[in-house]
Amino acid sequence: MKKSTVYDLPTRIFHWLFAFFFLAAYIIASTVDDESALFSYHMLAGLTVGFLLILRLVWGFAGTAYARFNSFKLNPFELFQYVKDAVVSKTKRYLSHNPASSYAAIIMFICAAGLAISGISMASGTENEFYEEAHELLATIFLITVIAHVVGVLYHQFKHRDALWSSMIDGLKKAIPGKSGITATKRFAGILFFIFTLLWVGYLNNQYDQNNRTLNVFGQQLTLGEEEHESHSESEGHETEEESQENE
Ligand code: HEM
Ligand code: HEM
Repeated sequence: MKKSTVYDLPTRIFHWLFAFFFLAAYIIASTVDDESALFSYHMLAGLTVGFLLILRLVWGFAGTAYARFNSFKLNPFELFQYVKDAVVSKTKRYLSHNPASSYAAIIMFICAAGLAISGISMASGTENEFYEEAHELLATIFLITVIAHVVGVLYHQFKHRDALWSSMIDGLKKAIPGKSGITATKRFAGILFFIFTLLWVGYLNNQYDQNNRTLNVFGQQLTLGEEEHESHSESEGHETEEESQENE
């Protein structure tokens, strides 16, 4: 079977790092108490998702044909037709992202940006119910999109015998007559993507102060845990001190 190369290395490296750090952020947030020191790793993973998104945004303009945002299929009628065909008859094949994964990618990118903004706002001490609510809602929309995305990939495999999943590993898709793949996989840029992410994680780790759970990023001090709790316990502490002085 003839195959065409469609996804360059930076796109594939981005995909798996993005998936890994999203899952890490989500799993930590939903299993670890936000008072625990371990919860800090939620913030570090979330900031790395934000960093990866910036790299991907650059690559969406500078990358090869199918990494570029202008190759995404975002016509709502095409999405409807695509999903309908995939359910009732034969799925239409695309060399680029199909309409369902184009939409899924855009939703995930918007959620990642919103999570980074609301997360940073909460961690920099902005007491605002809106950010908390938005953060939770965006995390849920992100998770639902990921589940739908993975179900879609599995559906292609089992219903249509289309091993779409492997395209994010080897970059190859079944060739489509008249459509050409990419000629360069941009290996060097892919390695740079990976190195930049490692440097970013190293930078965060270096800037993270485990004792008082603060993170200094580009001059901005982020604190993990709810400020509310800290100020409560502080004022409670003062009261007890005053009370005990009175009692003496
Ligand atoms: C947390 C889990 C995951 C996340 C957050 C995620 C996210 C994404 C994103 C953002 C894209 C668009 C890529 C881009 O252009 O930058 C994408 C595409 C894709 N993903 Fe995932 N993904 C996840 C899991 C998986 C898994 C488990 C598989 C397969 C086993 C997979 C296979 C694919 C494929 C094949 C595409 C390209 C689809 C197409 O060509 O239309 N993903 N994913
Ligand atoms: C992919 C990125 C992220 C995901 C999926 C995510 C997900 C979540 C989830 C599910 C919660 C628990 C909400 C709840 O039940 O109360 C949470 C809480 C929190 N997240 Fe994130 N988050 C992300 C990024 C970030 C970032 C970048 C920061 C900060 C820099 C951050 C800071 C926080 C804080 C401070 C809380 C606690 C809020 C509270 O106590 O209500 N998150 N996050």
